[in-house]
Amino acid sequence: MNGSRLLGSGSALPKRVVTNAELAAKIDTSDDWIVERTGIRQRYIAGDDETTSTLAIAAAKAAIADAGIDAASIDIIILATATPDNTFPATATKVQHALGCNGGVAFDVAAVCSGFLYALTTADSLLKTGMGKRALVIGAETFSRILDWEDRTTCVLFGDGAGAIVLQASDGDATGEGVLASRLHADGAQHDLLYVDGGPSTTQTVGHLRMKGREVFRHAVVNLSSVLKEVLEDAEVSAEEIDWVVPHQANARILDATAKKLGIPPEKIIVTVDQHANTSAASVPLAFDTARRDGRIRNGDLVMFEAMGGGFTWGASLMRV
Ligand code: ACO
Repeated sequence: MNGSRLLGSGSALPKRVVTNAELAAKIDTSDDWIVERTGIRQRYIAGDDETTSTLAIAAAKAAIADAGIDAASIDIIILATATPDNTFPATATKVQHALGCNGGVAFDVAAVCSGFLYALTTADSLLKTGMGKRALVIGAETFSRILDWEDRTTCVLFGDGAGAIVLQASDGDATGEGVLASRLHADGAQHDLLYVDGGPSTTQTVGHLRMKGREVFRHAVVNLSSVLKEVLEDAEVSAEEIDWVVPHQANARILDATAKKLGIPPEKIIVTVDQHANTSAASVPLAFDTARRDGRIRNGDLVMFEAMGGGFTWGASLMRV
């Protein structure tokens, strides 16, 4: 086996929807400001009975059902999250137990908003080395729990949710399907532009998200354009050949600016930020599953995934689905 291909996808959202108008009733903001600057109209916020693991498990079950496989056949679980249920053990092990596929590989990946790209690329690599045959790759977050709800510059931007895909080891070169090329990057010098001001080893608290939004925006467009070009070159594919781009859903303006830089028409970009806001590691698989289920992304399409997040970390992956 020298590749991995997609078997199915799933996603899950908390029950409660919070509109911009609802936020504007509590903090000094407005629907107009949020829509104009970000494209966000609403977000889903986890209730007391909903956690990162409950959302991850629901998304995983939907992906397994979509794949039409027995959960027990999954031997690798990688869960991307910055908001785990506990500092340890990994939330992935909770998911594994709930699915009844104990015994294989299960761990969390912390790369914030680009976590799903890191998890996907790691799963693809493990499948290629023969470490397992079927991998569940999940992005799941409850960012509402690390937001400072007094800080209007950040709290309006994020939401909760989960998305998952099932990958299977395959003879990628022979079939031309599955993951065709991936690239990951990090630049720790930019740590202070987007971070959480707490942690077990520093403050012994969970902390709150802090962000210099304008600078993050600037870096995002430059880094994403460059990693997309790298992946296209690696796969020897032109931008015109891409059927869909599934970007990290941070801000509609970042999506527009990046697409414009690469000459990708806006109708090929999957946008769900208006409905889900920024769900960090969950945003790419959540958007992907949404677009598969509404019939936009079909089997055989060439799909580019891309994301950038705190660290900074960023990456992109091209897949024939
Ligand atoms: N409601 C009303 N006014 C607000 C709000 C709000 N929620 N938040 C900020 N403002 C005000 C500011 O106080 C400021 O007022 P001032 O001019 O009187 O000082 C004004 O709006 C402009 O603030 P800026 O921060 O300069 O606004 P900007 O146009 O840069 O938009 C935003 C802010 C939306 C955060 C933008 O910078 C952005 O999207 N950055 C990308 C960050 C991001 O998406 N991060 C997610 C994680 S990383 C990633 O996924 C790529």
